[in-house]
Amino acid sequence: MRGTHPLRQRPIGVFDSGVGGLTVVRQLRRLLPAEDLIYLGDTARVPYGTKSPATVERFACEDALFLARQQVKAIVVACNTASALALATLEEKFALPVFGVIAPGAHLAAKQSRLGRIGVIGTSSTIRSGAYARAIHRERAAARVFATACPLLVPLVEEGWLHEPVTLDVLRRYLAPLQRARIDTLVLGCTHYPLLKPAIRKVTGEDVRLIDSAQSCAAHVRDRLGALELLAKGRRRAGVIQPYVTDEPDRFRAAARRFLRVPAREPLHVELPALPSGFGPAQWK
Ligand code: DGL
Repeated sequence: MRGTHPLRQRPIGVFDSGVGGLTVVRQLRRLLPAEDLIYLGDTARVPYGTKSPATVERFACEDALFLARQQVKAIVVACNTASALALATLEEKFALPVFGVIAPGAHLAAKQSRLGRIGVIGTSSTIRSGAYARAIHRERAAARVFATACPLLVPLVEEGWLHEPVTLDVLRRYLAPLQRARIDTLVLGCTHYPLLKPAIRKVTGEDVRLIDSAQSCAAHVRDRLGALELLAKGRRRAGVIQPYVTDEPDRFRAAARRFLRVPAREPLHVELPALPSGFGPAQWK
């Protein structure tokens, strides 16, 4: 995929802390079937959702640097935690379009909520950052945002326990305060939560609108790349999905099938480049 392609024929780069960001790849594939996608899952260092802002920011820069060196035309930060803590830094340091998951999800929630009572669930680091609440208030200043960290959900999803009684119990417990607050809209602010939609539905009932941050991000990427004239043109073949992982690929391969559900190339192992000293603004193209 390297070489002298015009910019629009280059792949889109997507990264996440692990396997979960494949929910975003799946939505990108649905909306942009001809695009080549390079996915980086930082499986050696997952989870990001319990780590400090400085650590997540450094990891995110290393992930993005790897993708930039693969000559991608844009970078999609599929990880909600990395989007919450590192998006501004990535935008400053990389001379490529960089898209996160938070703003598109917040935009949709602010627009679709009837009463302006919006719940947000995510990892501890995402919720602690307040990034969703800030983004929602930018769109709808009078909205009431009720945010709850749900640290047990990622391991449950990775275990494949999407409908087990224990998962429903955990969801009931996490969602109870949001239901008491009478939210009418709930943002699924983590890569893994789209897989829990049926279970979340069981707990919230049909009256609460669910905002899937993977779906809203993919729609945003399609619209922005279209506006920038960066969508692949005249391509008749289906796009290729090439995953890279920082830990050994076996565990990833099994989980990837559940998250992605469309064909992809074999995952390849990669060592991430260390950030060059004096890693300055907008120097990577
Ligand atoms: N990808 C992360 C997110 O969306 C969840 C997993 C993790 O904690 O790294 O926030």
